[in-house]
Amino acid sequence: MFRISQFIRELDRPTAIAPHRNPPGPVVIWNLIRRCNLTCKHCYSISADKDFPGELSTADVFRVMDDLKAFRVPVLILSGGEPLLRPDIYEIGRRAKEMGFYVGLSSNGTLIDEHNIGAIADTGFDYVGVSLDGIGATHDKFRRLDGAFAASMTGIRLCRARGIKVGVRYTMTEDNAHDLPALLRLVEDEGIDKFYFSHLNYAGRGNKHRADDARHQTTRDAMDLLFETCLDLHRRGIDKDFVTGNNDSDGVYLLHWVERRFPEYAEHIRGKLVQWGGNASGVNVANIDNLGVVHPDTMWWHVPLGNVRERPFSEIWSDLSNPLMAGLKRHPRLLSGRCGACRHLDICNGSSRVRAQQITGDPWAEDPGCYLSDDEIGVEAGAVPGARVVTTPFVPLRRSA
Ligand SMILES: C[S@@+](CC[C@H](N)C(=O)[O-])C[C@H]1O[C@@H](n2cnc3c(N)ncnc32)[C@H](O)[C@@H]1O
Ligand code: SF4
Repeated sequence: MFRISQFIRELDRPTAIAPHRNPPGPVVIWNLIRRCNLTCKHCYSISADKDFPGELSTADVFRVMDDLKAFRVPVLILSGGEPLLRPDIYEIGRRAKEMGFYVGLSSNGTLIDEHNIGAIADTGFDYVGVSLDGIGATHDKFRRLDGAFAASMTGIRLCRARGIKVGVRYTMTEDNAHDLPALLRLVEDEGIDKFYFSHLNYAGRGNKHRADDARHQTTRDAMDLLFETCLDLHRRGIDKDFVTGNNDSDGVYLLHWVERRFPEYAEHIRGKLVQWGGNASGVNVANIDNLGVVHPDTMWWHVPLGNVRERPFSEIWSDLSNPLMAGLKRHPRLLSGRCGACRHLDICNGSSRVRAQQITGDPWAEDPGCYLSDDEIGVEAGAVPGARVVTTPFVPLRRSA
C-alpha cells in the first residue's frame, strides 16, 4: 500500500528520515465469507451468491483473533465476499475492537441501509471502505448489477451521516478509467475521507479478465491526476488520505513527479520512499481466506501456506519452508529482468509479484504491470531483455473468458 497523501504532506512539513522498520505484526486482511450478492468482473475471490461450505465459525474466528493479538497484529480488515452477509459480523467486529485492533470493514456498500446502519455504527469500525468502480452505469457494468452504484452511494451517505470514517475503493481497468476524474470530484463533494486506488491484479476473475488491464499510459495519466488532486486538496486545507495498492512502482513514479514539480524536495522524498520500502506482501500484509487458509496477501489465493484450524497463524506466518514466502521476505528480493536491473528496487521492492507469476510462471520475473520507462528505472535502452526504450502500452495476453 502506497500512501500518496503522506508524501504530499512531506512537501510542506518534512519529517526526519528514519531507517525502514517493520511493524510488530502484519496487517491482516480477513475474508470472513466468500458469498457475495455481486459477481464483479475482476473479483480475486471469485465470489458469487452461493454458499461456500467449510467457512470458519464464530468460535474459530475468536480463537484465531486471540492468536493474532498475541502475535501483535495491529489491524484487521474484515472483508469477503460481502462481509455484511455474515450474521455475526457485528459480534466479530465488536470483539476485535474490544481487543484493541484497528478494525476496518471492506464492503461493496450495496447492503448498507436504514436497518443495519445502527449496528454498523455501534460496532465501532474505525473505517468502512466501499468499492466504487466508476459512476452510475460504469460501476453497475463492472459490478454486474443494475442499481449497484445507487445502493452503494446510499450506504456511503448513511455511514457519513453517522460520522463513520468512509473511503472509496476503485479498481482501474481500461473499461472504467474514463470515470476517474468524476470519481475524484465525487470524493470531494461527498466529503469522503479516503480514496484507495487499486491497480488490477491478476488473481481470480481479475486474472481471467487481465486483457482489460489499463494500458501503461492510462495508468501514468491516472497517477498524474491523483498526485495533482491530492496536492490541490492539501493546499486548500482539505485533508484526505490518498492511497494506492497492487502496484508499488507508484512510489518511483511519484519520485519522478517530484523531480519535475519540486526538484528541491526530490532527495528528501527519495529518502522517505526508501524508508517506506515498497511491496510488503508476505511481510507486513497477510491474508486469511474464508476457509482459514493463510496467504501472503489477498492476491495469492492460489498459494496456500497453512490453515489456522491446524496451526496457529503465528506459526504459519513465520514458517519459511514455502519458497514463495522465503523469497517475499528476502530483502532485497532476488528479481530478474527489468525489476532486477531497476535503480529504484529499494523503493518499490519489486511491486506485486502476482502478475509476473501469472504471466510467466516465475514469481521473480519482472512485473509486467510496471509502467515506468527504461529511463525512469535507470537502465540503458536494450540493456535488459524485454526492456522498453520508451513507454509502450503493455498489451496483456487475451485469454478466453
Ligand atoms: C474482494 S472485495 C471484498 C469486499 C467487498 N465485497 C467489495 O467489493 O468491496 C475487496 C476489494 O478488492 C478489490 N478487488 C477485487 N479483485 C481485485 C483484483 N483482481 N485486483 C485489484 N483489486 C481487486 C475490490 O474491488 C474491492 O475493493
Ligand atoms: S469484488 Fe467484492 S462485491 Fe465484487 S464479487 Fe468480489 S467480493 Fe463481491
